[in-house]
Formats: sequence, structure tokens, C-alpha cells
Amino acid sequence: MKPIKKLAVLTSGGDAPGMNAAIRAVVRTAIYHGLEVFGVRRGFEGLIEGDLFRMATTDVSNIIQRGGTILKTARSREFTRAEGRKKAYEQLQKHQIDGLIVIGGDGSFRGAHTFSDEFQFPSVGIPGTIDNDISGTDYTIGFDTAVNTAVEAIDKIRDTAEAHDRLFIVEVMGRDAGYIALNSGIACGAEDILVPEEITDMNKIMQRIRFDNKRKKLVRIIVVAEGDDFGGALALQKKITEQLPDVEIRAAILGHIQRGGAPHYFDRVQASRMGYAAVNALREGKSQIMIGLQNQQITLTPFSQAIKGHCPLDPDLLEMSVVLAT
Ligand code: F6P
Repeated sequence: MKPIKKLAVLTSGGDAPGMNAAIRAVVRTAIYHGLEVFGVRRGFEGLIEGDLFRMATTDVSNIIQRGGTILKTARSREFTRAEGRKKAYEQLQKHQIDGLIVIGGDGSFRGAHTFSDEFQFPSVGIPGTIDNDISGTDYTIGFDTAVNTAVEAIDKIRDTAEAHDRLFIVEVMGRDAGYIALNSGIACGAEDILVPEEITDMNKIMQRIRFDNKRKKLVRIIVVAEGDDFGGALALQKKITEQLPDVEIRAAILGHIQRGGAPHYFDRVQASRMGYAAVNALREGKSQIMIGLQNQQITLTPFSQAIKGHCPLDPDLLEMSVVLAT
């Protein structure tokens, strides 16, 4: 592989706090080593349309503490088609760009993997998603901040739940993954935690609510991931109300609040490490790999492995959450 001279960076899929820190690290590391960097707006969609611009170190000043992504992001349908990927390749050729860094989730890596294969184009991925569900890394950018946002909200909900003796169902993000639910639930002492990775046993939950009701322990927090097999907070509320109409229940859906806000220190530092490592990987001739963090160390995992499946939840943590809630 020829040494890289010009690289492009983009963010793709759902945004995550800390993506800006990763962009900053990519731009500054590349320029430090004498490379040119292009920022692509709106992910693969912007790449297809040629929405890219040359970046200077000052373009990434004062962004490390900001949520969202200065490059904007999108989920691109066109990039899933061969014609779309061809257009993207032509744009990169037009600007003589010879390396691509993709900050996103497993869907984005799937696209990058196919693209890189088709055109033999050097590409490196940085895991950025609040869901923390990518194989080959213990951590994805944004997860830490998102969990802290959820924890702060659930703590507040518990105050009002206690004051009114109410049962609260709090829905957190995670279409396919229960990382946010499990970790925020443990951190807030939730009485039940429902995740997509496990089949929800409604009978057991109803038994516990009935038992609580009898002994007048009315405050209960149920944290549910949006992708739980039973449904989200509203489906649960409906089911419980049908069977126990006298129990006062409120549902709260935290939603996109979990995706925004200033990244916590951990996300800023790890995103910086990953951005730095991604540029160095490209400089060393590596391609089709994702930068990860395992046991506190930076690792490189082939795209083919990173997109294989979701990272499973730790069974010990799941078991512990049940024991500590009794
Ligand atoms: O980025 C991951 C995620 O936040 C999921 O947890 C959630 O299901 C999804 O994105 C929501 O996507 P959108 O913002 O497109 O509705």
C-alpha cells in the first residue's frame, strides 16, 4: 500500500457525545504528520454528494467539550447500493484522497467494509454509538456520557416516585442492546431491568409488583430498554394497569436527551485516543480495521469481526442486578 497523503473523516449513524473529540484528534494527528485532511459533512450521504472541505487545526478548536458532531451525520440508504458507493469513490478520487476514517456504529462499518473491499480503499473505523454494542471493543464513544445522562434523570424520577409512592417505568435508548438499561439500572438501584438480550418474564414482574403492593412498598423503578421484546415503557404501563388498575404508574421515555450534551471526561479521552490511533493505523498501512479499547488498551479488530454480531451483555452483571434488587 502507498503511504497515505490525504485522508477524509466522517461521522455516520446516530451521533454520540465525544464524536467531536475524535474528529479533533484525527485532524490534529494527521496534520502533525504532514497529511492533508478533508472533513465530510453528513456521513456517506455527504460523501456521495461531494460535500467535503479541507480542514485546518483551527477548524477543530473549541469542540472537544461539545456534544453532537461538527461534521453532522446521517444514515445513508444510497451508500447501501453499488451505484452510491461508486459515486462516493469518484468523489474521493476527484480530491485525490487515499484514506478514509469512519466514526460510527456497526451499520457504518458494514458500509465501510463493503466499500473498502470493492475499491481496495484504505479505511479505518472508530466506534461511536451510545449503545456500546460493537464486537471487538469494550467501549464505544458516547456510551459513558449517555449512561450518566440516564442516571441523572432516573435519580430525579426516584425523588418524585418516593414522594408520591408511585411505580415508574423509565425507557432508555437501545434498540438492540441493553447496555444503557443495565448500567443505568444498576447505578440507580432499579427494581427491574428489562433488556432486549433477555426474554421478559411478565408474570415474574407482576408477581413482584403484587407482593410489593401487599406490603405497601409502592415505590418501584423499572428501567426498560426501548428494544425490549415486551415493548417499551408504554406497553408495560398498559399491561400492568390492565392487571392492577389501582397501582399508580407513570412512564417516562428519556429519548434523545441521552444522545446530546457535553461529553464526560472518559468519552473525551478515549475518543482522543481512538482518533489518534486511527490516523496512525492508516499511516502504518492498516486497513479494514476498527480501533477498539480492550482492557484499557487500544486494539485493532478487522471490520469483518466487528460487524459480526452484537457484543453480549456480561451475564455476571445481569445476575448481580437481580440479586441486588431483591
Ligand atoms: O445511536 C443509537 C440509537 O440512539 C439507538 O439507541 C436508538 O434506537 C437509535 O439510535 C435512534 O435513532 P434515531 O435518532 O434515528 O431515531
